[in-house]
Amino acid sequence: MSTARLVPADDDHLSHADFGKIATLIGQEVGIRLPPTKRMMVEGRLRRRLRALDLPSFDAYCDYVFRRGGLDQELVYLINVVTTNKTDFFREAEHFELMQSTLVPNLLRARSGERRPLLKVWSAASSTGAEAYTIAMVLAEMARHQDNFKYAILGTDVSTDVLAQGTRGVYPAEQIAPVPQDMQSRYLMWSRQSGSRAEVRIVPELRRLVRFQRLNLMDSAYPYDRDVDIIFLRNVLIYFDKADQAAVIGRLVSHLRPGGYLLLGHSESMIGTTIPVRQVAPAVFQRL
Ligand SMILES: C[S@@+](CC[C@H](N)C(=O)[O-])C[C@H]1O[C@@H](n2cnc3c(N)ncnc32)[C@H](O)[C@@H]1O
Repeated sequence: MSTARLVPADDDHLSHADFGKIATLIGQEVGIRLPPTKRMMVEGRLRRRLRALDLPSFDAYCDYVFRRGGLDQELVYLINVVTTNKTDFFREAEHFELMQSTLVPNLLRARSGERRPLLKVWSAASSTGAEAYTIAMVLAEMARHQDNFKYAILGTDVSTDVLAQGTRGVYPAEQIAPVPQDMQSRYLMWSRQSGSRAEVRIVPELRRLVRFQRLNLMDSAYPYDRDVDIIFLRNVLIYFDKADQAAVIGRLVSHLRPGGYLLLGHSESMIGTTIPVRQVAPAVFQRL
């Protein structure tokens, strides 16, 4: 007799009480607010995780998570499940135009006494790396015409799944449509295995310049340099409450060099008044 595989039945659901426990935990750990309206979304995303663990029900999953020591193993996966990782190459493209036309020239002018200064750029909620590699492509284009600077890019995120994709630098071909054609030819390699969908990979010359690491923005301190030139913090603050938004912005600004820039998502232009920055463009702030 074959043994039936344990999987949650379609009519098994995440109870309001268990959703509440998960929402509280996620709020405390990563700052993401999960209002009751998100219960079905979390249930849908968790269903696959239950199958992977061979657990028969949401009750069983919550017993597993909230038993003594359960979070040591499961928290990372739970965070991967609840984070929303939507991103794009050249998302909110005006920021990349501004980076090229104004921000980088200003930063280089301020350091004209240095021979080939190193520009440090940080994508602080990098998701799969589309933002970090967009930055890399724009800087590589600039460096083709002016060899007077070097650059290094850091991508951080709390989700290990997206960081793994960023490190590989492999993307479904349909995602690279926003990348201008000439940059596609210079910075992307095509692979098409028969039977599978077409994929592209970022060229090794750019992958070498981009490093990905796990960082929870809710941590009270970040173990990174304090002379970063540009920080992208886009489309993540929307998930946090006001106090956490202000704390994250304050910590990140303290990692910028004076004159460095912080870029938020266009729907996130609110910023606490006590932070020492001035606004220079929509959602773009310069450290004083
Ligand atoms: C919607 S994506 C935005 C990606 C990219 N910045 C963009 O604008 O296209 C938000 C990312 O923030 C990450 N995130 C959420 N909470 C976080 C936290 N506490 N620390 C670090 N990253 C977090 C998520 O994992 C997700 O990949």
